[in-house]
Amino acid sequence: MAKDVIIACDFSNAADTLAFLDKFTDVKPFVKIGMELYYAEGPAIVREIKKRGHKIFLDLKLHDIPNTVKKAMKVLSQLDIDMCNVHASGTIEMMKAALEGLIREDGTRPLLIAVTQLTSTSEEAMRQQLLINASMKDTVAQYAKNTKEAGLDGIVCSPLEAAVVKDICGQDFLTITPGIRFADAAKDDQVRITTPSKAREIGSDFIVVGRPITAATDPVASYKRCVTDFLGN
Ligand code: C5P
Repeated sequence: MAKDVIIACDFSNAADTLAFLDKFTDVKPFVKIGMELYYAEGPAIVREIKKRGHKIFLDLKLHDIPNTVKKAMKVLSQLDIDMCNVHASGTIEMMKAALEGLIREDGTRPLLIAVTQLTSTSEEAMRQQLLINASMKDTVAQYAKNTKEAGLDGIVCSPLEAAVVKDICGQDFLTITPGIRFADAAKDDQVRITTPSKAREIGSDFIVVGRPITAATDPVASYKRCVTDFLGN
């Protein structure tokens, strides 16, 4: 799948989400649906957005025993989504099971990516609470290797980590990177950020952009600016 900008549709209900998407008349952006919207509206919101012609990244971050994840993925694959994800910490066996569950009867499947360590987890919390004594960098690198070994397509990471991940796992291993801001805009609560064009230079395949588009006065113009910066067209 070609490099693209994914809009994080972090809305709490269908009405707000669809009103936002209604603004896009001549383009159909790739959108990310997260837990809040999915748990509020269920599979119907996925079907509705798909019907409108958008590609969908269903960001539900599954993490359970392999058999449960496999069966859950089988259900999600029927939703005609384009990308979904699991936690790499669920182990290689769980990721393999997720992948098996995703394969549809016709042999197609959505892209499957893994979350390594959440950016909200500090190295200190990792050491003290999770008893992981490796550094954050080494932990992310190991989880990326596990993800590749399980046969998944890539990981979610900071754009600043994209180049390292490509070095370790190969150029074809996808990096999906949030934490994107225009150079002249607010950081909000994000810390490790970069611009769309810089993310492209470092090696991001997909940038996930929320508030710089959803909270903009002109979301369509902001989205188009992001696409131009990221794809250079
Ligand atoms: O509004 P903003 O551009 O910060 O939104 C980024 C999106 O990416 C949000 O949906 C956020 O939950 C998600 N995300 C993130 N950092 C991660 C993983 C996901 O910001 N490590």
